[in-house]
Amino acid sequence: MNKIVESVHTRHLSLLTLIREDHVRHHCDWTRPGFRALAVYRFGVWRMRIRSRALRAPLSFLYRRLFIRIRNRYGIEVPFSAQLGRRVTLEHSHSIVIHGNSVIGNDCYIRQGCTLGNKSLDAPFDAPIVGDRVNLGAGAKLLGKVIVGDDATIGANAVVVKHVPAGAVAIGIPARILSKVALASAATDIRQSMA
Ligand SMILES: CC(C)(COP(=O)(O)OP(=O)(O)OC[C@H]1O[C@@H](n2cnc3c(N)ncnc32)[C@H](O)[C@@H]1OP(=O)(O)O)[C@@H](O)C(=O)NCCC(=O)NCCS
Repeated sequence: MNKIVESVHTRHLSLLTLIREDHVRHHCDWTRPGFRALAVYRFGVWRMRIRSRALRAPLSFLYRRLFIRIRNRYGIEVPFSAQLGRRVTLEHSHSIVIHGNSVIGNDCYIRQGCTLGNKSLDAPFDAPIVGDRVNLGAGAKLLGKVIVGDDATIGANAVVVKHVPAGAVAIGIPARILSKVALASAATDIRQSMA
């Protein structure tokens, strides 16, 4: 079993600060499933800062109850062992599954139907690493130890099994990079056809 490590982005911040940021990120609406799931996740991580097992035990009991409630009610699984950065948005709910070894940067968007998981049962602990400001479209799947660079966008329903460079847009199954050059030339085509 891997050692539990808190995200480098959050370990110096208080629980309240992190939850406040998440609240703002979720349109200041505490009823949003994504906000509730993150609040439970933040609590689960925060309780691990308490070194004494005896003091932590009742908090761990509460965390497990809340985790199960969020999973069963909203279909969102974000275990405390995953490393999430600040201001992550879980847009909408259901079928959001994040592997306990995943690493996710700041300001990322994760939508309904997204999975960040292992690729095969032969490598059950392999999980994706996602940079800052990454935008995951609805239904996107990131499988295995793939790295998604900062500012990348993953299209709806894409299945990512290879690294995605920073700033790239990846679409399809298996995901391919929609090059910025291709996007720029498409934009030029449209402008020319409208002229
Ligand atoms: C990937 C995405 C960001 C690309 O948007 P874009 O930059 O405007 O790209 P375009 O619409 O110009 O599409 C470019 C090409 O990619 C294709 N494409 C776009 N999104 C795709 C997707 N998710 N899967 C497969 N192909 C896709 C288009 O058909 C087009 O192909 P073509 O060049 O052969 O015609 C966007 O389509 C997307 O999937 N966004 C996710 C948004 C989302 O999840 N919304 C749910 C909100 S709840």
